[in-house]
Amino acid sequence: MLADQNSAPETLPPAFSFIENEPVFDPVRHLALEAPQQILTLEDFGYSTKEAAQFASPIAATSPVRMLSDEGLATAQEVLKLLQPRVVTHDNGASTDGRRNIYYGQYQSRFLRDLMSCTEVIQFLSDIFQTPIAPHTMPHLGCQINFANAKQGGSIIGWHHDIVGFTVVLTMHDPSTIEGGHLMYYKGPRDEGERILNTGQELPEDKVVVSNRAPMGYCTIIQGSAVLHAVQPVQNDAFRCSIVNAYVSRDVTAPDANRGYPVQDYFPGVPMYPVYNEMARHAAWLAKAKLGSILESGVWIEDRGKLVAELSAAVDDVQRCIDQLKAGGIDDEAYEEGRIAEDERQMTAPLFERGSQ
Ligand SMILES: [Fe+2]
Repeated sequence: MLADQNSAPETLPPAFSFIENEPVFDPVRHLALEAPQQILTLEDFGYSTKEAAQFASPIAATSPVRMLSDEGLATAQEVLKLLQPRVVTHDNGASTDGRRNIYYGQYQSRFLRDLMSCTEVIQFLSDIFQTPIAPHTMPHLGCQINFANAKQGGSIIGWHHDIVGFTVVLTMHDPSTIEGGHLMYYKGPRDEGERILNTGQELPEDKVVVSNRAPMGYCTIIQGSAVLHAVQPVQNDAFRCSIVNAYVSRDVTAPDANRGYPVQDYFPGVPMYPVYNEMARHAAWLAKAKLGSILESGVWIEDRGKLVAELSAAVDDVQRCIDQLKAGGIDDEAYEEGRIAEDERQMTAPLFERGSQ
């Protein structure tokens, strides 16, 4: 059984609003989806068959793919201009590195919401990942826009894997004008890359792939939870901007790769704090699918222990969410500890299949 397709909240959180007078997204005029020339699997990245099964899709990454038509690109740029008053800067709270972002894109722009969630894009991405996907259930992770230039200094974001299943990074700057600033990924298992980095070494150059040299309107598509990636520091004063959209797997067989981000004071300038509510919705969405698969499977199990294990597995995401909600906002250090534990859980938890417990 697949989880529901309509995973995002239907109403905006209090105090959020869409920008006014923005152009209406039209998939016919604004999209120019082109199939990727190259698709790399998790096996190509060195994941074993057993490890790959812990992820929702067998696919790791694609070569850059065209997403927007010329008109779509011009229209998206118009939307970005309208959104400028909503750009926030990380200059206090949990993060003070001066990064500039727009968070909660789905709550701020109908155009961005409709672009990331339209049927054509969802089908396109589901075909690439060979599994049904949906727009992210937790909009604090679902659509964010990153701006950068050299004045901010340093790397935009260092090596990490995402806390969402699937990631689409849409280039909105002209890559020929910037020095650095390109998205890179490590063509190897995420744990292997992290182990190398943890010893203070650089990742081997022959396994670092630089993407996003594609023109504006193209995107890099990765299974962000499985692919270690980073953005090179921008070296000149050129404009860099990417729209980062995230997706979840509707097939809930593999352990959940999505984690809420309850780091205290992380999101600057938001009118209220929707993170906890979104985490609760996500857990409920997962459990609904898992409990539904028990209801609908028609498998008879006599063993009480097996039934207990199965029900426990079906509501495990809910229990973990309850524990997280009880803990409330955490600091970076606690988050990092939890992330490592969650990574471990994702790679070792049994798959959820009716009758398999
Ligand atoms: Fe990322």
